[in-house]
Amino acid sequence: MIRFLSLSLGLVMVACTQVSMPEAPEGAQLYTENCSQCHGPSGKGDGPWANDMSPAPSDLTQLSVDGDFPRARVLSIIDGYDRTGLPGQAMPKFGDLLEGDTIPLDVGDGVLTPTPRPLAALLAYLESIQP
Ligand code: HEC
Repeated sequence: MIRFLSLSLGLVMVACTQVSMPEAPEGAQLYTENCSQCHGPSGKGDGPWANDMSPAPSDLTQLSVDGDFPRARVLSIIDGYDRTGLPGQAMPKFGDLLEGDTIPLDVGDGVLTPTPRPLAALLAYLESIQP
């Protein structure tokens, strides 16, 4: 019986690690690799490539509206699905970030949508740098 209990506990723990929401530090690394050249090390839009870009890279510390972080909008901008709200085409697409395992993520509509883990991690990071 004890053996059975510890086995099922182990399985539950494995299941939990696989679907846990990534934390901000995981996204911070992806941010440094993919975004900081333009959006700057602290997200303020002052990266080394930003100098003569037009339109200028956005200040990513100002994404929240009235304290609400617009997860769905930010996700669709990063994954290139919807750029209709952007004035320019200056931001590249990030196919690599769409690879790998998906995790269930509530993007604000209460529905858990399977989301590639790198995207969810970036989202957690961006959310963490809002004021
Ligand atoms: C080559 C430069 C460049 C890189 C790299 C880049 N961006 Fe951008 N980004 C821009 C520019 C320029 C804009 C301004 C809008 C446009 O393209 O018209 C923008 C806009 C955005 C916006 C919209 C902000 C708003 O207020 O609507 C988000 C969110 C964003 N970027 C996130 C990211 C993330 C996350 C990464 C890394 C995965 C990234 N960007 C990488 C140049 C870049």
